[in-house]
Amino acid sequence: MDELQTIETRHVAEEELRSQLDLTSLPQHVAIIMDGNGRWAAQRGLPRIAGHKEGLAALQDVLEIGHELNIPYLTIYAFSQENWNRPESEIRLLMGLLERYLTQERQRFQDRNIRFLPIGRLEQLPTPARELVFDVAEETRHCTRQTLAVALSYGGRAEIIDAAQQLALEVQMGSLLPEQINETLFEQHLTTWGLPDPDLLIRTSGEARISNFLLWQIAYTELYFTRTLWPDFRRCETLLALLDYQKRERRFGRVSQSVAP
Ligand code: IPE
Ligand code: IPE
Ligand code: MG
Repeated sequence: MDELQTIETRHVAEEELRSQLDLTSLPQHVAIIMDGNGRWAAQRGLPRIAGHKEGLAALQDVLEIGHELNIPYLTIYAFSQENWNRPESEIRLLMGLLERYLTQERQRFQDRNIRFLPIGRLEQLPTPARELVFDVAEETRHCTRQTLAVALSYGGRAEIIDAAQQLALEVQMGSLLPEQINETLFEQHLTTWGLPDPDLLIRTSGEARISNFLLWQIAYTELYFTRTLWPDFRRCETLLALLDYQKRERRFGRVSQSVAP
């Protein structure tokens, strides 16, 4: 099949998938573990960075769909705490890509009224990347149409520890009683404060694990695992994930609606 035909086929498939989507029950918050860039590159005999670059193109596609469908919250896992254990050369290239991406997109975030919200231990980022991350967060702080949370140097356990430490300090200073600590207060000390819990978590590349992402927040999230490598996760794949989500019955511990009296 030549390239034009492939594009045409995907376009028809996309229209078909889109027509099946129920626009009244879309997830409000989609979280994504963008995995498989290295394997995508390896399959083509390319360096890993080529996979990360193509991964950014996939991200653009997914963001575009999220924008078109008005999904208000997206959280993407861009760099984990554990990713600091990668070779220094790969870390340097990833930080360079982050800088390039933010430099390219900062104006579009503002034009589209998108809030860029970095989460994670941002102080660990190298200075140029950190400063840019803070600048873009600051200049989009008041944007209201969509929130794009980007997990950078992020670890779910670290986030919970940081919240516990802050609460312990407040107790120590006398401004909080231990018995006042409840789920609502705890959530207010997480970096995702103000965001609803994810409705749907997508992980690409065939791994069926969480890798320390949003541990607190995904208590009742619907999980979607696909073998597709992240650079190949485009518009059709996004729609397939949303359609799969819409087939689920979210019970939150209750009995099924279909058997309820
Ligand atoms: C995900 O792709 C991107 C990051 C973790 C930064 P990987 O780099 O983990 O790709 P694989 O898993 O090695 O294929
Ligand atoms: C998870 O992918 C982190 C990101 C996508 C940023 P990894 O590739 O780092 O996860 P593991 O090591 O396979 O669990
Ligand atoms: Mg990986």
